[in-house]
Amino acid sequence: MDNFKELVQKRRSVRKFTEQDISAEDLQTILRAALMSPTSKSTRAWHFVVVDDKNLLEKISLCRPMGSQFVADAKVAIVVLGDREVTDAWCEDASIAAVTMQYQAADLGLGSCWCQIRNRFMENGEPSDNVLRFLLHYPENLTAECVIGIGYPAIERKPQNEDNLKWENVHVGPLAEEN
Ligand SMILES: Cc1cc2nc3c(=O)[nH]c(=O)nc-3n(C[C@H](O)[C@H](O)[C@H](O)COP(=O)(O)O)c2cc1C
Repeated sequence: MDNFKELVQKRRSVRKFTEQDISAEDLQTILRAALMSPTSKSTRAWHFVVVDDKNLLEKISLCRPMGSQFVADAKVAIVVLGDREVTDAWCEDASIAAVTMQYQAADLGLGSCWCQIRNRFMENGEPSDNVLRFLLHYPENLTAECVIGIGYPAIERKPQNEDNLKWENVHVGPLAEEN
């Protein structure tokens, strides 16, 4: 696709994937997009952990009581980590990299969905980040913002409805003062 206007309309979250493998080239293109994404003060203090092992994907999918199960079905999951010791904007930087990968994936005909990790917890109160740290062995200075599950879509999703956009949330100039 060479039209970003069309791409932003077509990208939808996909949580059901086919068995088709993602080529090494496409995976590299997705990671390239993350590594080209903008960061505060150009610190580039993110890390990306690529997981394609079915057994590990299933374990990752259990890091929250709900909302993370789709990861088990993904062909690849990319765990997006930020370094709190390097930048106070780690969360923004990680988020921008994550969503950039989602648009690149969509451009390649792949589906993806964001699984939130930061501020999410197991039923016993354990942070989901700790569950992933145990599974993936990342150090204390790194925190997972999210996991992006990727694969070929097993379902077709409708593009965003142009008539349903919240244009009322766009304010041209200052908001009206309340009196
Ligand atoms: C910050 C953020 C956190 C999200 N967390 C989850 C999640 O934990 N699990 C999930 O299935 N989807 C998650 N999503 C996907 C949203 O549910 C989805 O983007 C939203 O419903 C809009 O649908 P669309 O992406 O198809 O336009 C998240 C999206 C964002 C941006």
